[in-house]
Amino acid sequence: MSTAESKPAARPAASETPGDKVVQGARRMLSAKAERFTESVIREMTRLALQHNAVNLAQGFPDFAAPAEVKEAARAAIAADDNQYAITWGAKPLRDAIVEKFARTQGVTVDPEREITICCGSTEAMMSAMMGVINPGDEVVVFEPFYENYGPDAILSGAAPRFVRLHPPTWSFDPDELARAFGPRTKAIIVNTPNNPTGKVFTRGELECIRDLCVRWDAFAITDEIYEHILYDGTQHISMAALDGMRDRAITINSMSKTYSVTGWRVGWAIAPPGPTEAIRKVHDFLTVGAAAPLQAAGALALRLPERYYTELASTYQFKRDRTLQILTRAGFECFKPAGAYYIMTDISRFGFSNDKDFTRYLVEEIGVAAVPGSSFYGDPEDGARQVRFAFCKTPETLAAAEERLARLRPQ
Ligand SMILES: Cc1ncc(COP(=O)(O)O)c(C=O)c1O
Repeated sequence: MSTAESKPAARPAASETPGDKVVQGARRMLSAKAERFTESVIREMTRLALQHNAVNLAQGFPDFAAPAEVKEAARAAIAADDNQYAITWGAKPLRDAIVEKFARTQGVTVDPEREITICCGSTEAMMSAMMGVINPGDEVVVFEPFYENYGPDAILSGAAPRFVRLHPPTWSFDPDELARAFGPRTKAIIVNTPNNPTGKVFTRGELECIRDLCVRWDAFAITDEIYEHILYDGTQHISMAALDGMRDRAITINSMSKTYSVTGWRVGWAIAPPGPTEAIRKVHDFLTVGAAAPLQAAGALALRLPERYYTELASTYQFKRDRTLQILTRAGFECFKPAGAYYIMTDISRFGFSNDKDFTRYLVEEIGVAAVPGSSFYGDPEDGARQVRFAFCKTPETLAAAEERLARLRPQ
């Protein structure tokens, strides 16, 4: 056999379309799924903020201290050598604390042995839940604008997203449009309340409308409730799992990240009926084995903090919300007032930029403030081209620095 013959068969030249750059001939060298989404725009904005020394109102992480007693509990757990793998689906003390808290706040009692999986943040809990229940051909209903992770979550789990629009200024949805999005292929709906990026808190009536469709089409409601304690003006958070008829259909995703200002700890969980939990636990086990053991121990203490902690958290954030609304309104933004979570969606029409991306680039490079382009929250980027999101989980000093810089903006 000649040398030439022993070589692998020549491959046709790679196609010149950008999306095919990694395809060598017939063989796709990288995952087609991974090619269908980009890196997180939110997290990219944080890198740009660092690069341009900008005030970071882009990514939703607090720039202030976590509660002292929660940090002390983590230090104590490490000192006591709680440093090896926890049980894969979560340390018992944290699962017990989750049971107590869910019963206390939502009146829902779950079994810590068969209905809870502790994961590496709610990010992994959502991914494990989706991978645990989705099959090829399944559809997932997603309210739009949506937290950007849900797009890649759908792609990686193999679900086809069906978007349903939330309309400003109150971010309400049209029940008929929602009903049209459900059908025999619907496996689940993703509900995020309180909502990122809009600050919407779903009402009981809206949740009941969703519930009725889940029951009719035999679908799960996967509810991301990580902002459950960040609520304004007396608004109430209602868990989907607490509604009649949803106990066996709700998969509740939550986390320590936002409630205890520890986004870097990566401790979250999924509460689901025993069937889905079995699937979620298997996916979780092989994705990550488990969340950090000493931080789970600290979580058991955090979830038992007195009621006062949660009321103070909400009132501190309400002050930050009002302050940021004032800063942004004075700078020329049209603001959509949030009822929960710690973001403000704005309309940027008055600034005369052709789209949200050009505007946020100008904002970070020339004004020195990082924000998130609205298009990253929509299936079709054009739909978010007039919107920009600001996070206000920041110290008074950070907000004052943003105010000073944003005063240089000139609406037309
Ligand atoms: C709606 C929503 N879900 C999930 C996450 C990620 O949370 P975790 O840190 O628990 O993974 C975020 C973070 O900003 C979020 O806004």
